[in-house]
Amino acid sequence: MNCPELSHSDLEFLRGNLRKPVVLIGMMGVGKTHIGRKLASRLGFEFLDSDKIIEEKADATVSEIFEEYGEEKFRLCEHNSILDVLNGKPCVLATGGGAVINEDTRRAIREKSISVWLKVEISDILKRLESTDDRPLLKKGDPEQILRDLMNKREAFYAEADIHIESPEGAADKTLSCLINLLCEKLKKDRV
Ligand code: S3P
Repeated sequence: MNCPELSHSDLEFLRGNLRKPVVLIGMMGVGKTHIGRKLASRLGFEFLDSDKIIEEKADATVSEIFEEYGEEKFRLCEHNSILDVLNGKPCVLATGGGAVINEDTRRAIREKSISVWLKVEISDILKRLESTDDRPLLKKGDPEQILRDLMNKREAFYAEADIHIESPEGAADKTLSCLINLLCEKLKKDRV
């Protein structure tokens, strides 16, 4: 990944010119929350996580919601929560990995945000998720096969994002400076 060091003038530019939420999309376990939190803190913006919003509203964990009400109900809550955020002030939003399967959610992300696809190899996702059991979709069989199948179904949707960025293991700071640089390029391009 070739990108410049974190630039304070880039940060200043973003603080003054970002008028839309920045939305992070990508598979589960790629670090949307980790990178999103860091970006928000650098920008001085609020950080939000759609899974957390849903959990707070439902007073239940994502796993409990999947178990009790099913995926369809979860996706509806996910859509509504993301739409609420997109209709608010600029912020950084980490979405759940499956948010993009809903066409209306994709349209809202396209129209109302700057979207960022965080990309990580499936083998790295597996390592990252090894010690967790809070991804209900991975409990239904072989996690690697499930992740590959989900990626095949979702890749074209993730690829609609304005910015694509690799987020390799142990390189969060580098990913962040790259992302800040790419956000600036995108905003400057959109202004001309
Ligand atoms: C999901 C990803 C999870 C969570 C739920 C479903 C998915 O979020 O929304 O378990 O369908 O990929 P993260 O991407 O934050 O892990």
